[in-house]
Amino acid sequence: MNSFRITVLPGDGVGPEVTNQGIKVLKALETKFSHLNFEIQSLPVGGQGIDLCGMPVPPETLVACEEADAILLGAVGGPKWDYLPNKQRPEQSLLTLRSHVVGAFANVRPVTLSTSLSDLSCLKRENLSEGIDLVLIRDMSAGIFFGKPSGREVRNGETIAYDTMVFYQKEVERIARLGFKLARTRRKKLTSVDQANVLENSRLWREVVSEVSKDYPDVTVEHLYVDNCAFGLIKKPGSFDVIITEGMLGGILSDVAGGSVGSIGMLASASVGSSRKGLFEPIHGSAPRIAGQDKANPLGTIRATAFMLEYSFGLINEAKFIEKAIEDTLQEGWGTYDIAKDMKKLISTSQMGDLIVEKIIQNNM
Ligand code: IPM
Ligand code: MG
Repeated sequence: MNSFRITVLPGDGVGPEVTNQGIKVLKALETKFSHLNFEIQSLPVGGQGIDLCGMPVPPETLVACEEADAILLGAVGGPKWDYLPNKQRPEQSLLTLRSHVVGAFANVRPVTLSTSLSDLSCLKRENLSEGIDLVLIRDMSAGIFFGKPSGREVRNGETIAYDTMVFYQKEVERIARLGFKLARTRRKKLTSVDQANVLENSRLWREVVSEVSKDYPDVTVEHLYVDNCAFGLIKKPGSFDVIITEGMLGGILSDVAGGSVGSIGMLASASVGSSRKGLFEPIHGSAPRIAGQDKANPLGTIRATAFMLEYSFGLINEAKFIEKAIEDTLQEGWGTYDIAKDMKKLISTSQMGDLIVEKIIQNNM
């Protein structure tokens, strides 16, 4: 028996709806493969943590995350908690869990769209001739999200706010190595994204990436400014293989990439460090406007579940069953409101989860 402990953090807004579909998929895999056993424990986080325990990451949640083999998170945040000072906001729980619990220094976001599904994309068909198959890796330990000092104060009678971007050479180096190693297993192309025409941080980033590239002569490196990369992702997304960049820059680019596959609801994200443990989540937020309506796209979360199986548990074959079920469902034209093209095939969050489960059970590979 292969047993794995998974802590599920449904969180806020559409979070519980989408993580429920992830749980359904895990249960379906247990049914299909008798050697699998997932011990699932759900705990509050984000706004839910604040409401129930007065903090975005309650102590019990922290312990459960520390003890788990992997973590599946829905989404956090919402207008209800927007009044809180920065350090107490639900969003901080993401950064805390990613960096402290998992020891993550990278946030990995795969983006794929087969050519036969190019109608789903927000881009024109002519820009998608090669399909899309890229992986965006963002730093998750340094950069502007983590730099100190960060805060606000009154100077000369006026309020000022500041955030700091700081990188140690080593922090750039480990992201670069992760990117090069991954590129080696793929199409051997690495795009390093920065704003080196303006930022000193970016100039250091570029120097370090160039230096590291000498150890990977088989991988082609290209350096792009972030604005140019955003344009490239619209114009010719198929030309990218592995992208490495700072956290905020990558956060922006990953939503652009979401548009290229039809919706940010389609993409998964893994925060990983040097161990196999990871925090897996969809890249979308809590979408308070549609929360509780069974409308959200659960595919990002279901893909995050597949990512977890593969990365943290080494269940590569089982993860493929999930990916295949998603691909088949999309090929048949089924879609939640954000991607549905044919209103007769518009389905709800839970119906999408059910369809994926049905296909996992039926498919033989
Ligand atoms: C995401 C979110 C977060 C990120 C924020 C809230 C810190 O936008 O998961 O995409 O940028 O990682
Ligand atoms: Mg984001």
